[in-house]
Amino acid sequence: TLAGALDRALGLVREVIDFPEPGVLFRDLTPVLADRDAFRAVVDALAATVPPDVDAVVALEARGFLFGAALAAVHGYGVVPIRKPGKLPAVADRVTYDLEYGTATFELPADAVRPGQRVVVVDDVLATGGTLAAAAGLLTQAGAEVVGAAVVLEIAALGGRARAGLPVRALRVV
Ligand code: PRP
Repeated sequence: TLAGALDRALGLVREVIDFPEPGVLFRDLTPVLADRDAFRAVVDALAATVPPDVDAVVALEARGFLFGAALAAVHGYGVVPIRKPGKLPAVADRVTYDLEYGTATFELPADAVRPGQRVVVVDDVLATGGTLAAAAGLLTQAGAEVVGAAVVLEIAALGGRARAGLPVRALRVV
């Protein structure tokens, strides 16, 4: 069944203690990506959360690229990469946002999103929600309508759903 395939896929997520720093429990999705059936099950389940009238998928560097691009290709959307700074030759806009420690910057490519377009943001993990909030801010500033976000895992204890400030669908909440 579809639910069984998704359960098996999410069971492949590897939990790594004290990575990337002491006290953090890292959820590593690499084994999910490497398994043909698991990857497909996750991509299809993410796609099933996307409303029918969406124009494009927006994928967040770096791990969001893998899921967002696969979803877009298999299910017939264009994909817009939101990138870390200094990678894009033509930038529409940028935003700097707070992380748990320090700040990060995201850039939206020029001419990728048109005003009025309905978009969905895809990422691997929702943690504090700062990443999704920053992406949504860039897209809204560009005139897009951010219909929602789809993530594989949501870490509920960090309260990221509230900070993200947009409807989030998570395949699994941990
Ligand atoms: C991770 C993850 C999400 C983000 C979630 O990315 O892939 O994008 O953090 O965290 P938040 O909800 O607290 O903002 P990371 O910054 O490690 O970048 P990477 O995908 O390039 O490794």
